[in-house]
Amino acid sequence: MPAIHAYVAFGSNLGDRAAHLQRALQRLQQVPGIESLRHSSFVESAPVGDGPPQGPFLNGVAEVQTTLPPHALLAVCKALEAEAGRILPARRNQPRPLDLDLVFYGDARIDTRELVVPHREWHRRAFVTGPLRELGVDLDARPRHEPPELLDTPAALAARVGDWLAGDCTIGLVPTMGSLHDGHASLVQIARGECDRVLATIFVNPLQFGPNEDFAAYPRDLAGDLAVCRAAGADAVFAPSVAAMYDPAFCSHVAVGAAADGLEGALRPGHFSGVATVVARLFALSRAHRGYFGEKDAQQLAVIRRMTRDLGFPIRIVGCPIVREPDGLAMSSRNVYLGAEDRRAATVLHRALRSACEQFQRGERDRDRLVARVRAVVATEPRAALDYVMLRSADDLAELPPGPVDGGRLLVAAKFVDGKRPVRLLDNMVLPS
Ligand code: PAF
Repeated sequence: MPAIHAYVAFGSNLGDRAAHLQRALQRLQQVPGIESLRHSSFVESAPVGDGPPQGPFLNGVAEVQTTLPPHALLAVCKALEAEAGRILPARRNQPRPLDLDLVFYGDARIDTRELVVPHREWHRRAFVTGPLRELGVDLDARPRHEPPELLDTPAALAARVGDWLAGDCTIGLVPTMGSLHDGHASLVQIARGECDRVLATIFVNPLQFGPNEDFAAYPRDLAGDLAVCRAAGADAVFAPSVAAMYDPAFCSHVAVGAAADGLEGALRPGHFSGVATVVARLFALSRAHRGYFGEKDAQQLAVIRRMTRDLGFPIRIVGCPIVREPDGLAMSSRNVYLGAEDRRAATVLHRALRSACEQFQRGERDRDRLVARVRAVVATEPRAALDYVMLRSADDLAELPPGPVDGGRLLVAAKFVDGKRPVRLLDNMVLPS
């Protein structure tokens, strides 16, 4: 293997910092497969990140010419850190005697669970860019990692997913139709905490809109959505055109049975087939290990869980809690359509659900009276036109057995018609145990 120029950033803020760094550089030079080493001067810098109060670092960068493959070089760095007494704590950003990060490995782009090269943060850290410049590295010629990476074709997605899987990464998928709000951001954040790589998708899926629904007018804002994904920690965003997603000959559809009947399924014929079809396609394209869906669309979640089981997709479906505005309104991309008065009135859904849950907590076990409670509170708001109130089992939304209820999920849907256009809002709440 020909020798490669690699750059290793080093730092220490515990013990005799200069001695730790000198020793690591000497040891690095002696490693078989490292042919030569030169390093920058040491610079002092304040600690970054959210660690506990700690002293400043002494930092620099070493340029090595090496025949070691990148993961072998990483293993050498980890061994030297351990030798210097670094214990890997449960929390990040603790004070440490030695920190060695592989910044560049030739021109390679590496995206594995243990190693991302170029280093994600190199260009944001003056204690890396300064020493690199001192070593004569042309920083403008070096790639910067500015996630999320925007992928707009299935082929581009397949390539990125292939890299992640080859690097042993777990993938979290957050399917969305864009117009992202804090509810979507919370899905990305939950995925970020559980998976090595997070893929958000933004695709307003024509298959799930009825002929008289708002496909053309559905709010679209790719730049804003990318900013939300960036802040929430997505690694990549898949935002294909309709033509890229469904080629002209596309003619396969997923039909989900009982789970898609009733509730939204009764009012929006074909809707859940459209959802199931696009989600199945996203599962296949992303090869994700986990898929994140909001509980606000409880029937959608139940349909997706059923489809996943029935068709045997090797993905774990994660239902995520509803995120609400401070006044209780469940976040939804369609809330932007509400006029000011309807926006105020729409909080009635949350109030109605809460009132019935309080009744349940006080001992009410009669389903009709719990449902009637929701209806009665919604009826206090003349702007709300109720579509339905139902009490179903909490997870799969199956009909509850007759008799007193010992739990379940209350679901409500209503239209608000006085804004820029009629807006249908959904909300639901699990009866408290
Ligand atoms: O909930 C949504 O935004 C959509 O129905 C989904 C799951 C992204 C499928 O288009």
